[in-house]
Formats: sequence, C-alpha cells, structure tokens
Amino acid sequence: MRIGVVGATGEVGRTMLKVLEEFDVPVSEIRLFASERSVGKELTFKGESVKVELLTEDSMKWKCDYFLFSAGASVSKRFAPIAVQNGVTVIDNSSAFRMEKDIPLVVPEVNAHLLKGYTGIVANPNCSTIQMVLSIYKLHEAYGVEEIFVATYQSVSGAGHKGIEELLAQERGEEVVKVFAKKIHRNVIPLIGEIQDNLFTQEEMKMVNETRKILNDYTIRVYPTTVRVPVLYGHSEAVMVRFKRPYASLEEVRKIIASGEDVVVTDDLITPIDVAGRNETFVCRLRAADERSVMFWNVADNIRVGAATNAVRILVKHAELNGRL
Ligand SMILES: NC(=O)c1ccc[n+]([C@@H]2O[C@H](COP(=O)([O-])OP(=O)(O)OC[C@H]3O[C@@H](n4cnc5c(N)ncnc54)[C@H](OP(=O)(O)O)[C@@H]3O)[C@@H](O)[C@H]2O)c1
Repeated sequence: MRIGVVGATGEVGRTMLKVLEEFDVPVSEIRLFASERSVGKELTFKGESVKVELLTEDSMKWKCDYFLFSAGASVSKRFAPIAVQNGVTVIDNSSAFRMEKDIPLVVPEVNAHLLKGYTGIVANPNCSTIQMVLSIYKLHEAYGVEEIFVATYQSVSGAGHKGIEELLAQERGEEVVKVFAKKIHRNVIPLIGEIQDNLFTQEEMKMVNETRKILNDYTIRVYPTTVRVPVLYGHSEAVMVRFKRPYASLEEVRKIIASGEDVVVTDDLITPIDVAGRNETFVCRLRAADERSVMFWNVADNIRVGAATNAVRILVKHAELNGRL
C-alpha cells in the first residue's frame, strides 16, 4: 500500500509511523508531509530514512491508497477534500469533519461496519471520547446506557508537542504560559478548549456529541468536566455510567466491559505512566453505585488509543473490508 502522512513530524504523526511498523502494515511507499518548518528533516520508517516534504495542494494529487492526517483542523479542511477528489481515502485525526452527517466517525472496535464500501474522509474521534467509548460500548449493548458522568485528567501531550514543551519549560523554572490558560506545572486546569454559549467547553461538547454519534444513540446524556493535569502522556477518566436496565452483579459488569476488544479490566491500580506505549484502554477500580449505575477509573495512552493507533486500526479495517489487504 502507498500511504501519505500529513503532520508526520508531530506527536501523533510520529506515533502513526511507529504503529504502522508495529502492526506490520504492508507499506510499499510512504511519503511524509509537514509545514516549511520541517521540510528536509528525516524520519525513520522500517529502518529507512524518509525526507519530510512540504505539504502543498499538489502533494494531495498523489494517487496513493490512504492519506493519514494529523496537522490540525484548518490543514485538514483545506487539503483533505483535494485528496478525496482524487479518489484517495483520508483518515483524519482533527475535529474538522467529525460531526458532518455523511462522514463516519469511527472507533473500529465499535462501528467498523461503516467502513465497508466507503471512500472519502473517515474521521477519528477526540482522544477522551475514544477511550471512554471503548470502556462502555459493550455495556451499552447489554443494559442500554442512559447517562454518563465523567471527569477527565488529560495529559499535556493532548495539546501536541507545544503542550509538552510548556510543561517542561515550567519545570525548568521558566515563566512561560502560552498553550494552557494557567500555569500547568504543579497545578490542574479545568478548561480544555473554549467555553461555549452553554458554558461547557469545546472538549466537553466533543465528548457529548461524539459519544452519541459513535454509539449511534442520540438519547444518551453525557455530563463531562474536562481537566488538564501536569502529566506528559496518558489520559485518565473518572466515569460513572447509569443504565436503562439493572445489572445482575458487579462480576457480570466486569465481564461485559472486558469482552470489549482492546479493553483490559484489572484489579491493579493503573496510572498514566503504566499505559505509555500501550494500545489498549485500561479499566480499574470498578464499583457499584446503585442497581443501575457503576463507577470506574479508565486510562489510555492518548497519543496511541486516542489518535495514532485508532487511525491505523481504521486504515487496516478499511483495507480488509474493501479487499485491499
Ligand atoms: N495529541 C493528541 O492527544 C491528539 C489526540 C487526538 C487528535 N489529535 C489531533 O491530531 C492533530 C495533530 O496533533 P499533534 O498532537 O500531533 O500536534 P503536534 O505535535 O503539534 O504536531 C502538529 C503537526 O502538524 C504539522 N503542521 C502544522 N501546521 C501545518 C501546516 N500548515 N502544513 C503542514 N503541516 C502542518 C506540524 O508540522 P511541523 O513539524 O512542520 O510544524 C506537525 O507535524 C491535531 O489535529 C490534533 O487535534 C491529537
């Protein structure tokens, strides 16, 4: 397969290259694109050095099999439609197209069927939403999810490379506050994205709207508070989920969550440090709230599960379902 990676030098882009290697995707040719800041830099793919090229409208005319985009929403909006016009399927990590009616929003473990026979843009959901949905989709099938109350503890890498740089600079004692609304070192900030008219933030509304779209159930009510914490990699979430129907036992709930693909339920205490580099979503501290509600702690590597791994899983599933593998 011939694959183009847009935003290849970023946190998500570099990780997509690693995951393509780890999943042994049969790549015959790869081209890497970024802004003029990175032109000429060399990245390694399968032991070979590949030069980063400038992203232009012309580069979108390359007749490859897939373009993987992770360079922000404005870049996706401008360039992805050109690739699609040329018949190439685009897998987009940005928020640009997620809520468009005809664009599938895919977590392959949950709704891969949307990829069969589809060409065009496939949207990769928001990182916090992916790991939450993975931990509840089997519960939704079993009991019907009615409401979700969630508080997130999101690492600085969720804001890309510049988010990591800001925390590291503050750790060194530099007084720089640009990426986050307040100092993040030795602090927590209950604001991710801008506040909307309804007083929820953009990140919170992504969790509300994207959860409903992925689970294809617009009756589900989601009540999120999204919080930035001074962790480098790995998002955590304190989740309470209320069902339409009662469950029989906590053991039954545990088995149902664990039956989800790429989900690990454990009695161990799992923290962000433990999941760096892992492709699964981890659930621990499962407990009963009442006969229709349970609570748990959920952790995943945001760059992998929340972006790069999900994107590569979409690519592989799309290729499988459409006879390209
Ligand atoms: N980080 C996460 O947890 C996460 C999760 C889900 C989705 N995403 C999404 O993935 C995307 C990338 O995130 P990231 O964390 O990887 O950010 P990042 O580390 O800041 O990397 C951004 C990438 O985009 C490239 N880029 C920026 N402007 C460009 C332009 N005008 N033309 C071409 N390339 C351009 C950068 O290239 P240069 O090297 O040239 O600057 C770099 O390769 C964003 O849309 C983000 O919302 C991120």
